[in-house]
Amino acid sequence: MSTDPAAEAGPATGTDTGADADTGPDTTGADRGRGRGRVAVIVPAAGKGERLGPGAPKALRELGGFPLLVHAVRTLVTARSVDLVVVAAPPSAEGVAEVQRLLADLPGDTRVVAGGDTRQESVALALATLPEDCDVVLVHDAARALTPVDVVEAVVAAVRDGAGAVIPVLPVADTIKAVDADLVTATVDRSTLRAVQTPQGFTRDILTKAHAAADPTLPATDDAGLVEALGLPVRTVPGHAEAFKITTPFDLVLAEAVLRRRR
Ligand code: CTP
Ligand code: MG
Repeated sequence: MSTDPAAEAGPATGTDTGADADTGPDTTGADRGRGRGRVAVIVPAAGKGERLGPGAPKALRELGGFPLLVHAVRTLVTARSVDLVVVAAPPSAEGVAEVQRLLADLPGDTRVVAGGDTRQESVALALATLPEDCDVVLVHDAARALTPVDVVEAVVAAVRDGAGAVIPVLPVADTIKAVDADLVTATVDRSTLRAVQTPQGFTRDILTKAHAAADPTLPATDDAGLVEALGLPVRTVPGHAEAFKITTPFDLVLAEAVLRRRR
């Protein structure tokens, strides 16, 4: 774990005014409450990182001298539209204490809850702790440590603009085939496919309803999937190549290269 994340954390604070531009309509019933309240970001960070190989929980592994979680939260607290960040930490006492220590060195309003056994459970546990006045909620994987702040702002703007659920997406570059064991059964039409990233943004009402209706025994890999299961629309905005999820050791090499180019 890093011992001095504060050294680079300071400059991020300057623009976090908390009272941000409200461009979305808020005069109709559907939009009531969407334009005035605060924006909270839930950061699921409780995963083990098994695909990354043996070691600390993934969110606490280092990239360029700082844990992945610190990179992700530092960007979130820099976002003008974000008021509050709630991290779902690895649920052990040490995990929670370590995340508390890391966040104490960062600017902005950050809080910690103990995460759960699945990503879905970690998000639900954090969602249950949000203050009343947060009416827009983003969910952002700690593992997408290098997501540019512009993606965060675009997602918030789309929710403020009236979307109940928003996801950043990218076109799929590879040809995708369906298989049965080692035999191809179909080639999927790539033009209609999108790779999905985070942060995903929601009105608080919709995210709360989606999690309340979710089946804990069939956990979803993203929150928008739970909204789709309710039959509600999900809007897309352009994602970013650097918002990729750090999953495997190769992704960590890629992330190191991206970070070097930024510095
Ligand atoms: N996550 C979480 N709680 C869990 C499982 C996952 O908060 N019980 C978080 C991870 O910390 C990560 C995000 O959800 O930020 C996306 O999950 P994933 O990339 O699968 O991370 P891990 O579950 O840690 O990795 P792996 O599946 O390889 O173990
Ligand atoms: Mg996982």
